[in-house]
Amino acid sequence: MSHRPPRCLVRGSLNIDEFFYVQDVVRPGQTISSSKFERRGGGKGANQATAVARAGGAVSLVGAVGEDGAWLVRDLEGYGVSVANVSIVQEVTGRAIIQLTAEGENCIILHKGANYALPDPPAQSNVEQHLAGISHLLLQNEVSWSSILAYLEYAHIQGIVTIFNPSPMPGDKQLRDFPWASLSWLIVNEGEAESLLRVIDRNPGCHEVEAEYPSEWPDDNKLKIAFSTLNQLSRCDVLTSTDIVCTLGATGVVASVRGLGEMLYFPAATLQGVVRDTTGAGDCFTGYFVTGLMEFGNKQLSKDEIAEILQLSVQAAGMCVEMNGAMESIPGREAVEARLL
Ligand code: ADP
Ligand code: NA
Repeated sequence: MSHRPPRCLVRGSLNIDEFFYVQDVVRPGQTISSSKFERRGGGKGANQATAVARAGGAVSLVGAVGEDGAWLVRDLEGYGVSVANVSIVQEVTGRAIIQLTAEGENCIILHKGANYALPDPPAQSNVEQHLAGISHLLLQNEVSWSSILAYLEYAHIQGIVTIFNPSPMPGDKQLRDFPWASLSWLIVNEGEAESLLRVIDRNPGCHEVEAEYPSEWPDDNKLKIAFSTLNQLSRCDVLTSTDIVCTLGATGVVASVRGLGEMLYFPAATLQGVVRDTTGAGDCFTGYFVTGLMEFGNKQLSKDEIAEILQLSVQAAGMCVEMNGAMESIPGREAVEARLL
């Protein structure tokens, strides 16, 4: 399958994010006013597909919106995402109702809407058709579990590189029964990595072998915990064919890659301004990371190649937190590369 031109398929969510700027989040029985209202495109599938496109990767999105989401589909197309397989269904578009306080606190109500309106499980003929000509499959956990499994398993059979960002975190049983052998890359944050370890920890292959913390890494508690968690995850029998990337917010990223014999660490990018809005940073990171993988093709990557991809992704995610919004704050490839010079 190594001669397939790089093309990513995202099977994922599209949301309309509605932001209400409030003094304090509303309490039961209370009615409050919002000082400002904003409506933006969102959903992890849409955000990550946009990030792949902004990074310069060819990408198609499979998902669904209601009639009220037609503008969102047009926006995605404007960013360069192929939307031929985004269906318009008889449901409202997925919604996030977000209250943001002056202190930066937030409260969110999610309505899945159209994201769960496609046939469940999907027709195998559709899965096969959507994955034809695809080199990389990118999944999150905001669409039906049966569709995640159907796309993942068929992609693996086809030799497609598979990437899963299990956010929001699936249930324990789903994680235990997950077809890990079909997954090439797992992208998690530190909380997700710890939850996953707690669930698959009973596995006899997960020995408590304490690897030595690399002396050249910074003396940082968050990083030490992530190092230990990733070490244990990488020793789990079920994850023997999966490489793991763990993002650590302002601390950066660690990666445990099979065949390298060591873990890689990259600090977060140095910002050219203040942290304005971290929403979408993880999605921006993931889209850039997958585009980096696509550019190196379907082969075992060297340490230098992985380092190059991580550095690019960390820089892009850093630029994303400098700006408001998720989708609209994902920087273009040229701007990211200019910062890396
Ligand atoms: P998630 O939102 O999925 O939990 P993280 O918070 O780990 O993801 O952020 C993803 C990436 O975004 C990090 O690895 C880092 O590169 C970048 N990032 C996040 N927060 C900051 C920050 N405050 N400063 C610089 N980079 C950041
Ligand atoms: Na942002």
